[in-house]
Amino acid sequence: MTPYKIALIPGDGIGVDVTDATMQVLDAAGAKFGFALEPTTFPWSCEYYLEHGAMMPADGIETLKGFDAIYLGAVGWPATVPDAVSLHGLLLPIRKAFKQYANIRPHRLLAGVEGPLKAEGFDILCIRENTEGEYSGAGGRVHQGQGNEVAVETAIFTREGVERIIRFGFEQAMMRRKHLTSVTKSNAQKFSMVFWDEVTREVAADYPEVTVSHMHIDAMAAKMVMAPQDLDVIVASNLFGDILTDLGAAIQGGLGFAASANISPDRALPSMFEPVHGSAPDIAGQDIANPIAAIWSGAMMLEHLGQAEASAAVLKALETATGQGIGIRPGLNSTSEITAAILSALEA
Ligand code: NAD
Ligand code: IPM
Ligand code: MN
Repeated sequence: MTPYKIALIPGDGIGVDVTDATMQVLDAAGAKFGFALEPTTFPWSCEYYLEHGAMMPADGIETLKGFDAIYLGAVGWPATVPDAVSLHGLLLPIRKAFKQYANIRPHRLLAGVEGPLKAEGFDILCIRENTEGEYSGAGGRVHQGQGNEVAVETAIFTREGVERIIRFGFEQAMMRRKHLTSVTKSNAQKFSMVFWDEVTREVAADYPEVTVSHMHIDAMAAKMVMAPQDLDVIVASNLFGDILTDLGAAIQGGLGFAASANISPDRALPSMFEPVHGSAPDIAGQDIANPIAAIWSGAMMLEHLGQAEASAAVLKALETATGQGIGIRPGLNSTSEITAAILSALEA
């Protein structure tokens, strides 16, 4: 069987540690299920920026086009490169260029993980709009550095962009418990979010089996802590989805548990898989980062590539390890110990 061509961008900080752990597990899954991954590693990172003056080469996007999928660790090293430079130079352009408009982020407790809420039985799928909204990059500053300075950040919501993400959310809800919550702030934001609510109502008409709730982002933040078990699919704008998915990670037990897939429904374009967390400079290079979020993201990549059985086996191996108490709390086990436990569960 032809190997899957994977563009590997480990990036910065713990991105490197967790990418290495993930590839060990995915290779083992390939050996077990009869396929191979052919990774090409791109050193695009803040270090690369310091050397070359750009986060990736000018033809970087063109280069990525030929791959079956992109796997990214994390990007950002604010001590040397401003975040707005590094993220707008690599991660965000990839999401936009390949129309990876659906960012899928599952939040549930793995076996043996208690999480800070001691809540049980929640299973949330956050569908985050991933290419526009508050991340448009449009705006500017006038009178910079002066007393009358004004900074404007323009959130752009198009009918095409809003409709497709809401439809994507409904399609996911149809495959799950058929409940969708649309998250806005349409009490304060009177243009974009009122528009979002209208489009949600329009699209909802095509999915009569799905029950729909509308919630404001502030109330949703409270709900995710107080009653996460009542939620099924959440659809949110780029920024709101970003914030809610770190909250989702927290209730799962920490940022080391939250996986994510940046999906381009256009199969001619590569999708990208990466954990929700960042480069964690505070713990980088110490073999203490939790690789579970990254490995789970790798399992999502296998599923996307058509290897559903291998994907399920990786998830099962994660739960076997956590079920044995491995990696269930921050600081309990090293990156390599957790990876080894997952590998041995997979190979058993
Ligand atoms: P972060 O997610 O890197 O870290 C937040 C906290 O969570 C830190 O205390 C960190 O140690 C902990 N943490 C994160 N992942 C962990 C893991 N796997 N195991 C154990 N602990 C973990 O967020 P931040 O500190 O806001 O950002 C650091 C850098 O990463 C910044 O440059 C930021 O812009 C960037 N960032 C990148 C991505 C990405 O590439 N997808 C995502 C988020 C942040
Ligand atoms: C994420 C990250 C990114 C985002 C940052 C690093 C630009 O926080 O993937 O959640 O906000 O999308
Ligand atoms: Mn985030």
